[in-house]
Amino acid sequence: MPNDIPYLPVQTLLSFMRDVFTGCGVPADEAAICAEVLITSDRRGIESHGIGRLKMYFDRIKKGIQLPVTNFEIVRESPTTAVVDGHHGMGQVIGVRAMELAIAKAKQYGMGAVAVRNSTHFGIAGYYPLMAIKEGMIGMAFTNARPSIAPTFSVQPMLGTNPIAFGAPTDEECPFLFDAATSITQRGKFEVLARQGKSAKPGWAINSLGETITNAEDVLQGFAKDAAALLPLGGAGEDLAGYKGYDLATIVEILSASLQQGKFLWDLSGIGPDGKTQPNYLGHFFMAIQVEAFCPLDDFKHTTGEIMRQLRAARKAPGEDRIFTAGEKEFANEKDTAVRGIPIVPNLQKDILEMKKALKLNQYSFPF
Ligand SMILES: NC(=O)c1ccc[n+]([C@@H]2O[C@H](COP(=O)([O-])OP(=O)(O)OC[C@H]3O[C@@H](n4cnc5c(N)ncnc54)[C@H](O)[C@@H]3O)[C@@H](O)[C@H]2O)c1
Repeated sequence: MPNDIPYLPVQTLLSFMRDVFTGCGVPADEAAICAEVLITSDRRGIESHGIGRLKMYFDRIKKGIQLPVTNFEIVRESPTTAVVDGHHGMGQVIGVRAMELAIAKAKQYGMGAVAVRNSTHFGIAGYYPLMAIKEGMIGMAFTNARPSIAPTFSVQPMLGTNPIAFGAPTDEECPFLFDAATSITQRGKFEVLARQGKSAKPGWAINSLGETITNAEDVLQGFAKDAAALLPLGGAGEDLAGYKGYDLATIVEILSASLQQGKFLWDLSGIGPDGKTQPNYLGHFFMAIQVEAFCPLDDFKHTTGEIMRQLRAARKAPGEDRIFTAGEKEFANEKDTAVRGIPIVPNLQKDILEMKKALKLNQYSFPF
């Protein structure tokens, strides 16, 4: 970050986000959930899905694309499973309630799985496995999203960046948490690049001729017009196994649409056949596995911790001085941001000031 970028304390941002959500009509307890999911992203150094996305929710609520009051309806249920209709409420509230339900089932029966339809953007997928980890469980979360990834050998954005999040407790301070999109780079990172006026790397996105494009704004504008697409993990074609990323994104699409009789692919674009804005109809899938149903939790934590330690102790590539395991960088960031605060780049400052003015949140005075 350049030296002149201001950093805001975590507590200030958390409280501002909560006030923006309540100002938009989200009930106070649910606004607290939404703000908590967003601040967790910022605290963990995932710039794309925290305060950077607040304006997106603000705009969507204003346009009626998502509803500030969440109607979380369980439409089908068994001891270990449930199907939930989110009725276009707040994705974070739906996500937290669905994961709580999966955890409650896992506590009682060893496993819990909850499929959700008609939801909205739920933020970082990793938030939800972290809830399971706190209960001594393995947690998983998946979601579909607006079309952006082109299938291997296609140039058309069809699948969302469909993240996979998998977390497990270890005997270390830091749990294992893999939380990433199934595209090389996700939409939010293009938004961050666009805000900073920077370019994407060649090979991340293509135009309708299959040529690489690096202007972040062109990529973002191109999805809806079917003029740009992201490449799946592994990249274009088959040489670096791009089909594996494409297939993983498809697995996430199945888990997020088929079990819950939800919508999928282009129906999630947010634009109806009449060209008008419509809800995103997103689907999610959550799973919690009670470790104690399989083995003593301490044994599991020790084995998983040992896997992490042995991986990090592997022989290093020339010039490299450290090997990471998933979740480590974000865990370190949580410690840093608690002291340093969260960086607010100029375009984000503009969004924050706009929301502050619109909702008359005059109790906040920011250094910009
Ligand atoms: N809600 C949505 O629609 C949606 C869609 C896409 C992505 N997202 C979110 O965006 C966030 C960022 O996704 P991303 O694809 O940019 O993630 P990313 O490419 O930054 O990858 C992050 C993952 O890789 C791990 N990692 C990083 N470096 C590593 C290393 N050297 N060794 C081992 N592991 C390493 C991290 O610990 C983390 O688990 C995620 O939280 C994801 O859930 C949300």
